[in-house]
Amino acid sequence: MGVYVITGANRGIGLEFVNQLSSDPSSTVIASTRSLSSDLSALKSLNKQHNNIHVLECDTSSFPSIHAFSLAVSKIIGSDGKIDYLLNSAAIQDIKDDSSLQLTEHNLLSHIQTNVLGPAEMVKSLLKHLQKGSVVMNMTSGIGSLSFSKRSDVPTMHTTYSISKAALNMLTVHQACDLGKDGRGVIVVCMDPGWVKTRMGGEGAIMEKGDSVNGMLKCLRGLKEEDSGRFWNSSGEEVPW
Ligand SMILES: NC(=O)c1ccc[n+]([C@@H]2O[C@H](COP(=O)([O-])OP(=O)(O)OC[C@H]3O[C@@H](n4cnc5c(N)ncnc54)[C@H](OP(=O)(O)O)[C@@H]3O)[C@@H](O)[C@H]2O)c1
Repeated sequence: MGVYVITGANRGIGLEFVNQLSSDPSSTVIASTRSLSSDLSALKSLNKQHNNIHVLECDTSSFPSIHAFSLAVSKIIGSDGKIDYLLNSAAIQDIKDDSSLQLTEHNLLSHIQTNVLGPAEMVKSLLKHLQKGSVVMNMTSGIGSLSFSKRSDVPTMHTTYSISKAALNMLTVHQACDLGKDGRGVIVVCMDPGWVKTRMGGEGAIMEKGDSVNGMLKCLRGLKEEDSGRFWNSSGEEVPW
């Protein structure tokens, strides 16, 4: 039950959120996708089964697109409507297995644009709908954890992407502080979904989407105000920064 806004909802983990959340007819599920002209067959098929899904366009790398999306959200939930859960799942990993010696300005900036500025602008743009008890989830990765990356038994990898996720982690701490102030009471957390079988997870991924999303929803629904600004995984355990 509640109003859920999900980015990157046409495939992967975002789509699985829509799948699980839409099965409760009392929930309103706002599923956003980069472009309404991309392949939305999976989302459309869910939409046929459940009439609580609203499919909207939102390219999270484009501020005008985010602003247009937030106006469309207001039309659905009303100008003072509350978003119970904002699930920032959309992200890119356009380059894999790169090292710090291969880092390029172009790649880092494009990852920051989508993976960091996207969730930042989404929160700014939807601010009036984030009210006491609302939860914002920024989907990060275990490899955005500095503690994890400096373990000697774990090779550093995916430099560009992991830097963008480490930046997203810091954004989350700041958002948690800013949205927790003055009795606002919005909870903001980072979530590591695990190594999940999606296009991004690639070959070798070990977790089913259903298990990851089920675990994340359980964790998100159990969060209290004092859990804001913290980093969690899909088993509901806290992850060190
Ligand atoms: N899978 C894993 O093992 C794993 C591990 C750690 C963290 N994560 C995180 O989990 C989240 C979901 O990943 P996933 O595995 O589901 O990846 P995925 O299968 O590659 O899906 C990524 C989703 O993000 C969307 N997206 C990318 N750029 C976008 C943009 N500019 N605007 C709107 N949507 C955009 C994609 O849309 P298009 O179809 O239009 O490209 C797609 O829907 C990401 O934040 C990822 O970093 C995943």
